[in-house]
Amino acid sequence: MKIVFVCLGNICRSPMAEFIAKYYTKRRKIKNLEISSCGTANYHEGQQMHHETKVILDRYDIPRFGFRAKVINKEIFDSANYILVMDNLNYEDVVNKFGQNKKILKITDFCSLNYNEVPDPWYSKNFEETYEILLNSINNFFMWLKLND
Ligand code: 4NP
Repeated sequence: MKIVFVCLGNICRSPMAEFIAKYYTKRRKIKNLEISSCGTANYHEGQQMHHETKVILDRYDIPRFGFRAKVINKEIFDSANYILVMDNLNYEDVVNKFGQNKKILKITDFCSLNYNEVPDPWYSKNFEETYEILLNSINNFFMWLKLND
């Protein structure tokens, strides 16, 4: 099964989500999952993740090897079982590019904190908030997945 996290630039939120999810599945010995991330925009294509995203992942001892920002394309979209976007703009962008599809979900639909989008830390500068929302949402997503797949 393939899970793809999507944000705008693929340097702040979706890379953080990718490595939180990889760490979660490794610790729970969940196999046969391919987890990646990409952006809807090409502003940072080929770049490393944002410095503050690295700081957060390092703070929580979450490995973050081998990352380069990339842009979503048809192959990534078609091969994914779940496309997990961060906010309403990402949702619209993905639907506009590839059409409405049940596999496109907003990660905060699984969040039990009081958020209906993951605010963009590129603007808010609050990367700790991003981590808290993503950790909560990803844990709940995997519980849902176990019940639904
Ligand atoms: P991300 O954050 O979508 O969470 O990676 C952003 C990164 C870069 C820009 C916007 C959002 N930008 O405008 O360059």
